[in-house]
Amino acid sequence: MQEYLSLPPLAIASGQGGWLTDTEGRSYLDGNASVWTNVHGHNDPDLNAALQRQLSAVAHSSMLGLTHPVGAELAAELAALAPSGLGKVFFSDNGSGAVEIALKLSFQYWQLTGWPKKSGVIGLAGAYHGDTFGTMAVGDSGFFHERFRPWCFPAEHFPAPRCQEWNGKVRAADATASLAALRTLLTEQADTTACVILEPSVQGAAGMRLQPPGFVREVAALCRAHGVHLILDEVFVAFGRLGGMTVCGEEGVSPDFLCLAKGLTAGYLPLAATLVREEIHAEFLGSYESRRAFFHGHTFTGNPLAAAVALENIRKLRPLIAGPLRSRITWFGRLLDETFSAHPRVREVRQRGLAAALDLAPSRDSSAEFPVAQRVGLQVCLRAREHGLLLRPLGDSLLLVPPLCLNESELGELVHRTARALDDVLPN
Ligand SMILES: Cc1ncc(COP(=O)(O)O)c(C=O)c1O
Repeated sequence: MQEYLSLPPLAIASGQGGWLTDTEGRSYLDGNASVWTNVHGHNDPDLNAALQRQLSAVAHSSMLGLTHPVGAELAAELAALAPSGLGKVFFSDNGSGAVEIALKLSFQYWQLTGWPKKSGVIGLAGAYHGDTFGTMAVGDSGFFHERFRPWCFPAEHFPAPRCQEWNGKVRAADATASLAALRTLLTEQADTTACVILEPSVQGAAGMRLQPPGFVREVAALCRAHGVHLILDEVFVAFGRLGGMTVCGEEGVSPDFLCLAKGLTAGYLPLAATLVREEIHAEFLGSYESRRAFFHGHTFTGNPLAAAVALENIRKLRPLIAGPLRSRITWFGRLLDETFSAHPRVREVRQRGLAAALDLAPSRDSSAEFPVAQRVGLQVCLRAREHGLLLRPLGDSLLLVPPLCLNESELGELVHRTARALDDVLPN
């Protein structure tokens, strides 16, 4: 907080496409997609029109005991775009909430079906699922959450696989130890485990930690074999970020719960959804006094304005995914390869879809790190502002997560401005 307060404030006044403009009139490429949410750009005329249409109908009406056409339409749309069987949708308003809801549903399901001892959770090392207590408990975000451990329920974690990939090529990958550890945990603890939770394909907040192709399918098969739910947290990776509408759809995996947020409204408004298998939902039905209902709700759940924007987002995403997105991803990978794969200050590049991490280090050839107090990642991001680029560091890694609408020349600007900032702060 002290560091943040000491920095000159940067106040954003407006946005257009992939660009943001501050109150002084300076523009910046949004290399962070406004916290990984932005899809079609800022101030998109179609999303604006969808929002205004809904605004002239109703801005908010509760989903407690009521519904609204735009929410119902969005639920049907989400069920249709997800793998089959995920036919029920529970709306909320942020990614952490979507994960909490999946966890609580899994916990309650096993009680309702006569397996109350199945209450444990298994997560992946390095996982990030949000900052609320339930999501901190199942996450593994080091000092971000460590001090709150005593207030968190216990959860097991299995080691993450290793995978280095960029420019569409897997350079090194090994999931053997990770899958063996999960198999052991499930063999020993399936009777007391409700669910496994996973950010599939890419662990974003861990620094774009990648999983080898096929890993999610193997985890799903283990969960199924041991009678444990699989929760896929696609809050970051869905809606085109990795090239497809959902990762589970691309991988041919059908989880028990699917958590969506961030790109759901293309970065316009807070909205999240937890998709649930029909047969799980069926267990929550019963008379009021049987107390089978899921007692969980948020005031702005399924907000109509957000739902209207989400519908328009999905309508616009389909042709983007079928059309230019794949070639933009290829182009992005090639630019990163050319610019950073032999850069003396970049120890490792990881990229999948329109998401990448550059790990900065004093030298490529030793394991030495920069002193933490030097805040090298932050310094590069501050310098990038002077080159008209907004980026976010994660320690000494730079995370590049552009809006999906950037064209090839803008993706070039993103990569080249990053390189210029890096070379200014860490000259060779
Ligand atoms: C994979 C994942 N899950 C959950 C969350 C939490 O979402 P929110 O910040 O909307 O609560 C995030 C946020 O970055 C995330 O990356």
